[in-house]
Amino acid sequence: MGELGLNKIFGALLATALGLMALLQLPGLVFGGEGAGHGAEHGEELTLSQQMCGKFHYCIEIAEATSAAGPVEPVFDLGAALAAADAARGERIFAGQCSTCHTITPGGANGTGPNLNNVVGADKAHLAGFAYSGAMANAEGTWTYENLNDWLKNPGGYVKGTSMSFAGLKKDTDRVNVMAYLAANTKGAPAFPAPMAAAPEAAEGETVPAEGETVPADAAAEPAEGEAAPAEGEVAPAEAPVEEVQPT
Ligand code: HEC
Repeated sequence: MGELGLNKIFGALLATALGLMALLQLPGLVFGGEGAGHGAEHGEELTLSQQMCGKFHYCIEIAEATSAAGPVEPVFDLGAALAAADAARGERIFAGQCSTCHTITPGGANGTGPNLNNVVGADKAHLAGFAYSGAMANAEGTWTYENLNDWLKNPGGYVKGTSMSFAGLKKDTDRVNVMAYLAANTKGAPAFPAPMAAAPEAAEGETVPAEGETVPADAAAEPAEGEAAPAEGEVAPAEAPVEEVQPT
């Protein structure tokens, strides 16, 4: 059923495209000749839709019709998430979920857990006066953002045998907001880690872009389409083939 509707949409788009081509006299745009009719196979329609995306800005409609598979779940980018973190939200989470056991003000009393002032970047088990578990006392390293992220996500998984009986903050945004709050209460807190480099091209290349203005890889790779690549200069421009097909 959905495919029938899709075919109608493609048919309509095709008719519009063909009409436009006739009007604009751009015979260089005949996509694959005989396959461009209403009987075209699905694979050809996709290619066609990408071409039309580049030529006629139909990307949005087509993308909505064809991207039912949904986007790939992105990798968690701690640096980018921290850069966008909200310490004020972190403070509210801290008040609701951490403050029963922790203070964070300078010189604040230890409770069930140690005072957390200046904890970011500090050694694990950073307060000499607190009775840490053996597991925490023996834990290697410092409280980098990466380590805090793992710790706050799953304390018992990160330091096996810890005495912090807390299930963990499962939401990425909750953790980064709390970390931003911990950093705001750390004198000379370390800088947030850098965001990851831009996503690899493969992640974007294969789907039709949602934004109309982006020319898909297919169209850009085919200078034969004339007006798509006028910058190349020496190649015969779109006008050349027009002479052969000029209507009488
Ligand atoms: C039920 C009490 C409890 C709650 C709730 C709790 N903690 Fe803890 N926390 C502890 C205890 C106890 C320790 C020490 C763990 C050990 O020695 O193994 C600890 C240790 C820590 C440490 C390491 C401190 C250091 O000196 O190395 C951090 C960081 C920390 N907690 C952050 C948090 C945050 C953030 C929250 C809220 C999201 C939280 N904790 C909620 C009890 C708690």
